[in-house]
Amino acid sequence: MKTIAHISDLHFGTEDSKIADGLVKELQQLQPTVVVNSGDFTQRARKSQFRSAADYMKQLPKPQISIPGNHDIPLFDVFRRFISPLGRFKNYITDDMFPRYVDDNLTIMGINTARSLTWKSGRISTDQIDELQKILSGLPKNHFKIIVTHHPFIPPPGQENTGVTLVGRATKALKIIEQNNVDLLLAGHLHQGYTGDIRTFYPSSDRAIIVAQAGTAISRRVRYEPNGYNVIRWEYGRIEIEVRRWEAAESSFTQAGKCVFVQQEEQWTLQTEAAATGPVL
Ligand SMILES: [Fe+2]
Ligand SMILES: [Fe+2]
Repeated sequence: MKTIAHISDLHFGTEDSKIADGLVKELQQLQPTVVVNSGDFTQRARKSQFRSAADYMKQLPKPQISIPGNHDIPLFDVFRRFISPLGRFKNYITDDMFPRYVDDNLTIMGINTARSLTWKSGRISTDQIDELQKILSGLPKNHFKIIVTHHPFIPPPGQENTGVTLVGRATKALKIIEQNNVDLLLAGHLHQGYTGDIRTFYPSSDRAIIVAQAGTAISRRVRYEPNGYNVIRWEYGRIEIEVRRWEAAESSFTQAGKCVFVQQEEQWTLQTEAAATGPVL
């Protein structure tokens, strides 16, 4: 079985140090196969914030897949925003804009969706879609394939018409993702954790592609729910997505929800779902 710890939206500069320490403890105990971080490492892309984020990531188990979020591009420093938007991210976190983890049966690929011009909104470029096609088509068919973006592909349940920021060019990217049998999409950005099937928002999709969104792991920028992250466990034919939320009274993360999907005739279907039971803010 492979275990993926999916964390997101750390927002160093607004981090809660008690929760940050709690997460380190959890992940050191969990010893996942991979730690995936789906972006927004910092609050304002400042040097000191990137330094803290980089030091923090060093405490977490490896290997790691890291991609930037919109907050990792300076917003107010206009010169830096347009001349070297991801300069600090590349210096402190990683300069690999197509980070990959590949083992005997699992492939995880990150794609940068953060943009200078449309700061809050994210997008996949046509060049990235071409590269995606090239990489995905070269992978063994039996691999469990995961794509990581900062901006989500589907909105939270019940928020379909509220104008939440989704990744741009999603329909075009999804064609390639679908054709190449990608199983799971991971993202963050909305600070809301939820799980779904791509077909609920893109009914024209022929295949089920599972979506797992992570909330903010350690930042005080919580929106509708406490801090949390996802633990994903995969073995052939079965995937389990566990939401773990910070329980302030216990000063630790506890299980707050779990979804199990099973694969039948190459299609993933939801088998059981225990809704998140943690406190709602
Ligand atoms: Fe964020
Ligand atoms: Fe974001």
